[in-house]
Amino acid sequence: YSLEALNTFGFRVNARYFAEASSVEDLREAVHFACQKNLPVVPLGGGSNLILSGDQEALFVHVNICDKEVVSRGDELVRVTAGAGENWHEFVRWTLGERAFGLENLSLIPGNVGAAPIQNIGAYGVEIKDFLHSLDALDMKSGELKTFSLADCQFGYRDSIFKHSARDRFIITFVEFALDAKLSPRLAYGRLQEEVEQRSEGSPDAFVISEAVCDIRMEKLPDPRVLGNAGSFFKNPVVGESLLKKLQADYPDIVAFPFEGRWKLAAGWLIDRAGLKGFRQGAVGTFNNQALVLVNHGGAVPEDLLGLAQYIQDVVRDRFGVELEMEPRVY
Ligand code: EPU
Repeated sequence: YSLEALNTFGFRVNARYFAEASSVEDLREAVHFACQKNLPVVPLGGGSNLILSGDQEALFVHVNICDKEVVSRGDELVRVTAGAGENWHEFVRWTLGERAFGLENLSLIPGNVGAAPIQNIGAYGVEIKDFLHSLDALDMKSGELKTFSLADCQFGYRDSIFKHSARDRFIITFVEFALDAKLSPRLAYGRLQEEVEQRSEGSPDAFVISEAVCDIRMEKLPDPRVLGNAGSFFKNPVVGESLLKKLQADYPDIVAFPFEGRWKLAAGWLIDRAGLKGFRQGAVGTFNNQALVLVNHGGAVPEDLLGLAQYIQDVVRDRFGVELEMEPRVY
């Protein structure tokens, strides 16, 4: 099976086995099949946070469980649930139409609902964990569904239990959100406030915020259908006070935000400042408008991308003494 259309870098790799799961039952069946054949299972959502490193001896399961509904509506909270296979952006727009607010800043993030909690997707001052209530996941070991509460998920910056102890064991099937019945705009991120003010007078509408977010994203982030990419390629590195002080002496304009008693640096700034914005190495490179996004200009193979990633990590380490950690998962 060709996985070309199922990974947003557009790598032409194949899987020996492939299954489409539209229900929990389908998923169970696929897992059972893999178990009998002693194959690893790789769940696939929108394919926007993974790097397929070559042809795969595994069962790829496209998780296509679709369904979204309002579970309950109170004065303060609206509980909604969505199947893992729902497209994230369409789901966000649907919540706004249901007058359930909070996810508007996360508009236009590529991928599906089921993958979103794994890396705790975030943008413009909001993370999915701010509105997630709980989720259900199929335990591939027992075949049972398990409910994870918000606390169970152990969310952190681009991090959750599904990248650690629950990795490769659970497949997320449904996600439940506790959204706001009244909109409280979160416009602290630099340009968002400006963009929203230009579009509306007085208190903004959630759709206006969503549109503003979409426009900012479209300006900075390439559309994967046009130019293969997986959004931010590295996490923003977190460093201690002493390293930041040292860096600030050499680079007074370095971008840093306080984060859990330490400092989060902008990986895009570091790569840019190392002279690698718009850099090209064969068929891969960094994006012209956002150095943190690595792109496939067409015809690249996974090794090209991994080579470029390594090169960027080396340059940034030599220049700033900072380690960059890759965000997408390599299979
Ligand atoms: N910057 C540069 N040069 C660049 C890129 C960025 O100098 O080439 C500077 C910017 O000027 C800005 C700072 O770096 O001062 C941060 O840039 P930006 O606001 O574009 O955000 P980011 O830190 O690069 C993070 C998330 C994005 C999210 C945006 C907006 C991570 C790894 N990435 O990017 O998430 O959309 O903030 O909130 O945390 C993703 O995870 O795939 C993703 C796109």
